[in-house]
Amino acid sequence: MRKIGIIGLGNVGITVAYTLFTRGVADELVLIDPKSKKVRAEENDLKDALSCNHFHTKVINGDYDQLANADVLITAFGDIKATARTDDRFAEFPINVEQAKIVGPKVKASGFKGIWINISNPCDAITTILKKTSDFPKNRIFGTGTLLDTSRMKRQVADYLGNQDPKNIGGYVLGEHGNSQFTAWSTVSVGIRPLSKYISDSSKYKKLEENARQGAFEVISGKGYTSYAIATCAVRLIEAVFADAHTIFPVSVYLESLDTYIGYPAVVGANGIEHVEDISLTTAEKESLSKSADYIKGNLAKVGY
Ligand code: 2OP
Repeated sequence: MRKIGIIGLGNVGITVAYTLFTRGVADELVLIDPKSKKVRAEENDLKDALSCNHFHTKVINGDYDQLANADVLITAFGDIKATARTDDRFAEFPINVEQAKIVGPKVKASGFKGIWINISNPCDAITTILKKTSDFPKNRIFGTGTLLDTSRMKRQVADYLGNQDPKNIGGYVLGEHGNSQFTAWSTVSVGIRPLSKYISDSSKYKKLEENARQGAFEVISGKGYTSYAIATCAVRLIEAVFADAHTIFPVSVYLESLDTYIGYPAVVGANGIEHVEDISLTTAEKESLSKSADYIKGNLAKVGY
């Protein structure tokens, strides 16, 4: 039985739930949100789909005690309106810090022992607070981090080159899942060739990087929130955990060297983070990573973490 809990049933949480439901990734889906009417509505909407869905999923209108024997937990609480107003995910920080301080101890008390993937923003800082308030082991809690930004970067590069599947593009966006992120261009490839074989003009790199960074805000300005891309990334991570796939993803992991959770490539499997990858970056990329880490840590220090 694959049991997955989702805390926070806004547009992101429910899109994760729906994606798991239609892909048959969960045998049991526990929906947790303080808005009980909303949870009941989502529960009923999913249950009404059961007779036509390809897979069977037991949908549970749950509470934290349901998490004791869950395999995976997703946290997706937040207030996108704050981010929408400012184009900065740290605008949600004051609200989500308070939420995280409630959710962390409650998850701990539930006896949950599975793999915890945090989406709530600002992702790296909230993952840190959830880890600290729950005493969860570092390898079993991580954030979606820059997997989404990396996906946006791959789409930008593929679109620019034309006639390319974004899956052909390798490489990483690293750092904060936020405005201090950067594309580590030294890691980016198209098939087996480095991207430098295709693009020589440095202004193009800047533009592609900026498009990836701004991707969320463009979507938010049109529909008020983002949902499909982040949900797809989160479900991909859950699939890697269930399959013990040992797939490398740029997720928000605890980096000893920088003493923070931050977007960096790591191997994801049944134990969550199996290990952090050792990649070689240029001096400028190392500096960008360290600046981004300082930004995350500076904000955490302001709220006592
Ligand atoms: C995203 O990047 C808003 O963090 C969310 O889609």
